[in-house]
Amino acid sequence: MDEGTARDDARVAANNELYERAKRVLPGGVNSPVRAFLSVGGTPYFVERGEGSKVWDAEGNEYLDYVQSYGASILGHADPAVVAAVTDAAAAGTTYGAPTRREVELAELVCEWVPGVEMIRMTSSGTEAAMSAIRLARGATGRKKVVKFAGCYHGHVDSLLVAGGSGVANQGLVGSAGVTESAVADTVVAPYNTVPTLDADTAVLAVEAVAANMGVVAPEPGFLEGLRAECDRVGALLFFDEVITGFRLGRGGATAWSGVQPDVWAFGKVIGGGLPVGAFGASAEVMANIAPLGPVYQGGTLSGNPLATAAGLAALRQLDDERYSALEATAKRLAAGLAEALTAAGVPVQVPAVGPLVGLFFADDAVRHYDDAKASAETGLYPRFFHGMLSRGIALAPGPYEALFPSLAHTDADIDRTIEAAAEVATELVPD
Ligand SMILES: Cc1ncc(COP(=O)(O)O)c(C=O)c1O
Repeated sequence: MDEGTARDDARVAANNELYERAKRVLPGGVNSPVRAFLSVGGTPYFVERGEGSKVWDAEGNEYLDYVQSYGASILGHADPAVVAAVTDAAAAGTTYGAPTRREVELAELVCEWVPGVEMIRMTSSGTEAAMSAIRLARGATGRKKVVKFAGCYHGHVDSLLVAGGSGVANQGLVGSAGVTESAVADTVVAPYNTVPTLDADTAVLAVEAVAANMGVVAPEPGFLEGLRAECDRVGALLFFDEVITGFRLGRGGATAWSGVQPDVWAFGKVIGGGLPVGAFGASAEVMANIAPLGPVYQGGTLSGNPLATAAGLAALRQLDDERYSALEATAKRLAAGLAEALTAAGVPVQVPAVGPLVGLFFADDAVRHYDDAKASAETGLYPRFFHGMLSRGIALAPGPYEALFPSLAHTDADIDRTIEAAAEVATELVPD
């Protein structure tokens, strides 16, 4: 067999074959735990390509995709403007280790759109952005303590994994092995939707202003305002982790959406147009603490990467109020249809829609915090719903704590097909 034929065989290999090979060389066969299907069972599909609202796997199966890279692909897959921007950028060199024009343009755009952000520093992931935001807050205040909320995920930062949602919740881990006690000694965990009482040791209060890693949980009226007031009372910084909400709830993210202004922000996902990008930001005064201006060190070989900034700009420049309204309408149609389809079959369900974010809980009552979300996951209905949908060509995230991410490429027909499938699957979820 010549080399070309061997490569072709590998390309068309079935999902199972790829999974077996993957498990030999990648822990769990994956590069991020949720993808391994551990909490839903079965074999992951290996994506060969994506276009708009759809992806195709190694066997040629088509899926209507609500994963959309966990929210990174707001325009859908392979958006032509993003592809063209990345292609052009690649032809001019993929990384230099020197500042570039597009980094300035992307930073200007973020500072213009998000009320209160005056400067950003770019990173290569949301984890790095959140980690650096915490370091900045500690450096700026000279204090140690970090307060976070159970079920909120801020990436795999040692000090923030405790009671993390998303993949951490799926694995049933509280935090992670390999994180030392000293790394979390200054982390305090509080229940979401209750304003914690802070003390004068608190450097920073970290929150997903709309929680989207324990399913989707909206902040109750007064919660975010209460956090702002409590931070002000003790002189702590309020940190909005907008890795999911940034440029998704609207141009101004959760900040403009809520009208509550934090002191420090983290961004990721949408800001990179599907390439590895994150950023953290603050006022010019707070950002003056970052090296080379100040004593808080932070850097990165690929930070502000030319391809990533090209993709981010090409994506963000397409997002205006009209498109956000369209996305929100799609999300509302999806949420209302899913709720109706499942309820009609007698399945206890909550389908919160916060702007373009949609959640799915198997619960009788609205989910307010992590304990409620866990109770929903423990019904065991999600894996059955997931597989019922997958077998009908609809791909949801393979874990009960993730949001559904309709994209701008999802059509009304896509949504209607999803709701029809959900109505069929719903009948399989209730006992006869
Ligand atoms: C709110 C939030 N913060 C941080 C992160 C970490 O981002 P990344 O996976 O790009 O490191 C995520 C990832 O899902 C997230 O949802």
